Amino acid sequence: MTDRIQYSPFHARVMSADEAAAFIQPGETVAMSGFTGSGYPKVVPAALARHIDAAHHRGEAFKVRVLTGASTAPELDGALAKVDGMSLRLPFQTDPDARQRINDGRMEYIDAHLSHVAQHTWFGFYGDIDTAVVEVSAIREDGLLVPSTSVGNNKTWLDLARRVIIEVNEWQPAGVDGMHDIYYGTALPPHRKPIPLSHAADRIGDRYLRVDPAKVVAVVRTDAPDRNSPFSPVDATSERIAEHLIAFLKHEVSLGRLPANLLPLQSGVGNIPNAVLTGLGASGFRNLTAFTEVIQDGMLDLLREGVLEMASCTGFALSPQANEEFKRNIDFYRQRIVMRTQEISNHPELVRRLGCIGMNGMIEADLYGNVNSTHVMGSRIQNGIGGSGDFTRNSFLSVFLSPSTAKNGSISALVPMVSHVDHTEHDVSIVVTEQGLADLRGLSPKQRARVLIDRCVHPDYRDALSDYFDRTLHTSYGLHTPHMLGEALSWHQRWLDTGSMRAPQPPKLAAVG
Ligand code: COA
Repeated sequence: MTDRIQYSPFHARVMSADEAAAFIQPGETVAMSGFTGSGYPKVVPAALARHIDAAHHRGEAFKVRVLTGASTAPELDGALAKVDGMSLRLPFQTDPDARQRINDGRMEYIDAHLSHVAQHTWFGFYGDIDTAVVEVSAIREDGLLVPSTSVGNNKTWLDLARRVIIEVNEWQPAGVDGMHDIYYGTALPPHRKPIPLSHAADRIGDRYLRVDPAKVVAVVRTDAPDRNSPFSPVDATSERIAEHLIAFLKHEVSLGRLPANLLPLQSGVGNIPNAVLTGLGASGFRNLTAFTEVIQDGMLDLLREGVLEMASCTGFALSPQANEEFKRNIDFYRQRIVMRTQEISNHPELVRRLGCIGMNGMIEADLYGNVNSTHVMGSRIQNGIGGSGDFTRNSFLSVFLSPSTAKNGSISALVPMVSHVDHTEHDVSIVVTEQGLADLRGLSPKQRARVLIDRCVHPDYRDALSDYFDRTLHTSYGLHTPHMLGEALSWHQRWLDTGSMRAPQPPKLAAVG
């Protein structure tokens, strides 16, 4: 194989991960590559974690502030969280150790919209970036960087960081070269211009990332796989959810409200969105497109089957098997996949212009269509908002998918009032559970409540929710969006107190006589 580091001035800067990590000092803001388990640095974060751990053993304080594209992997978030090495983390994360520390109050977390992170960094909201640690698949002879399997915020990190550490990962397929489209036309207000993209397939930028060579202090060679967790096989619940949504999309086409090849799809990561993609494959739809954040197994299948013409994304979340397939047929996929920075893949202007169909998971929704994507029982972060807000607020159709119950049926995903709001009733068009699909478009709050109760609520909770809603119509302070505040959130409190949202059974009367 040709050497992946072609730019000769960098040859002298090739070093070990430990030597590279030694540049990073306590208190720094470190911006890393990585988006949903792809394209994150594989060895420097772990080396940094070792340095932090050693410092802690010497009784020295050492924490860094960590910015990424989105969630990463145990080698980054896990390694740094385990040694209590992060004082702050943003934006999206899914790591169990990091989650534990955030919820224990040991680590600050800023849950920003993924499209906002780059511009907020440019605005200076997160302070200066001291070090960028970015994985690439190669460094060209002219010093340009061939991105790897995610682009995320790498352009911004490379532009703004004071110093740069590059990991060159030989595990990444060389054939990824040519898949990327890095838009260098963004500007700060008041100098912004419209983004010249009007089809999901449009290429509007450069093939490579730029970096000022003078800032590059270290180049580290790696040969390690992206994190790729296998997906669970499609279960009956996910299958039902997918069936409801696909039947609805077909109905919309038959009414002429959607074109026969739909509109560009955005799909969240997870088993249910993956089941929807699988269902789309067998549904007879053709010539679909995707304008999304992440390509997961289901989308790769659709591309291979010719159901999907092309997909625009910023990263991958593939199972090991799908990853092998991707690498094997990289030339095929390169012609059908465009990878962009996340400020473009998730850009509200583009999501709205293209009229995306946004499909995301949720924790819970309330009777009026407000959605909580992030917090369990109002205060415990699960993952984060990710790109769901970027798409929900601006899509042609904003769809939320969830089983109707959680925790073995002890929780209803449909509640009187969500315990935390990520997406408001004004932005949510469709809610789907295995029970059915509620089309909330064009409905007033009380009409939405009736449809949600009838279509989406699990039978175990239907009477209780219906009873709650009926009583609000007589006892609440106002009848536009009626609530009984104390009772609304008592559902969550009940679960915290008793382990179930179900109403307590009246005590059994002792038999008389
Ligand atoms: N109440 C309490 N807990 C709930 C719940 C509810 N209504 N619904 C789900 N949960 C819990 C599950 O029990 C599970 O807990 P566990 O980890 O302790 O087992 C956890 O939340 C995850 O649920 P799961 O059923 O595995 O859901 P998922 O993998 O389909 O993810 C979200 C659902 C909402 C967490 C996920 O879609 C998400 O993070 N969304 C926000 C980001 C996003 O939408 N990004 C889209 C662009 S990529």
